Amino acid sequence: MREKVFAANWKMNKTVAETEAFFQEFVNYPGVGRGHQVIVFPPFTALAAVRGLVGGLPIHWGGQNMYSKDNGAFTGEVAPGMLKELGCAFVLLGHSERREIFKESDADVREKIGAAHKHGLKPMVCVGETLDERKGGQAREKVVRQMAAALDGLTDTQVASTSFAYEPIWAIGTGLNASTGDAQEMCALVRERIEMKFGGAVAGKVPVLYGGSVKPENIADYLKQADIDGALIGGASLKADSFLQIIKNALGGKFA
Ligand code: PGA
Repeated sequence: MREKVFAANWKMNKTVAETEAFFQEFVNYPGVGRGHQVIVFPPFTALAAVRGLVGGLPIHWGGQNMYSKDNGAFTGEVAPGMLKELGCAFVLLGHSERREIFKESDADVREKIGAAHKHGLKPMVCVGETLDERKGGQAREKVVRQMAAALDGLTDTQVASTSFAYEPIWAIGTGLNASTGDAQEMCALVRERIEMKFGGAVAGKVPVLYGGSVKPENIADYLKQADIDGALIGGASLKADSFLQIIKNALGGKFA
């Protein structure tokens, strides 16, 4: 059985003060992060604070992006080693907002995945189609292409410490979540692409998450699907009570 994963993508939200307020609510839930995995992706500016705020809770954190180079003349960018220094175990890569707004290509994302592994960061790689691509019957083709680029040249060990999030772009922040059937089909496709290259034993270990308008009311149904191991949550992760409620509902009403 793969562990359930609950990842909070705060995007460009939360100051350090707001991050402190968020974690204050967690002290009431000592079971959070036990028997399942909780990962928080705050903005870079709040990462240093998070380390102190999680206290003894088994919560992981990571950057929402990074550049692939170690250091140098790349104004405005953040290097993998800088994330490591702040205790990040994870880094979110290839989120659709990075791909669509900041024009990151499949090749850029692949380079960052390699850099993450080089520095001992576990990449969580996002893939997913636009509404036009879904309407045009190209959703699978798009995800197959993104997966091929993401997996290109990785070793078995690297793939085993990578996770993926299928996030249909039309479902992100819109309230229009994918049907459980469609989400399962696409998460199964993600796993199938891993299996085709690395075999079933590796593919069976890799967490595949769904993301796109996940809420406390719909999480349980997603997690009943065979290939959905968790969720990457944006809007509904900004309030601690809503994020905690998602985890609770997913686990059948209580923390493990
Ligand atoms: P959402 O965002 O939960 O607000 O739809 C998900 C994401 O962008 O990762």
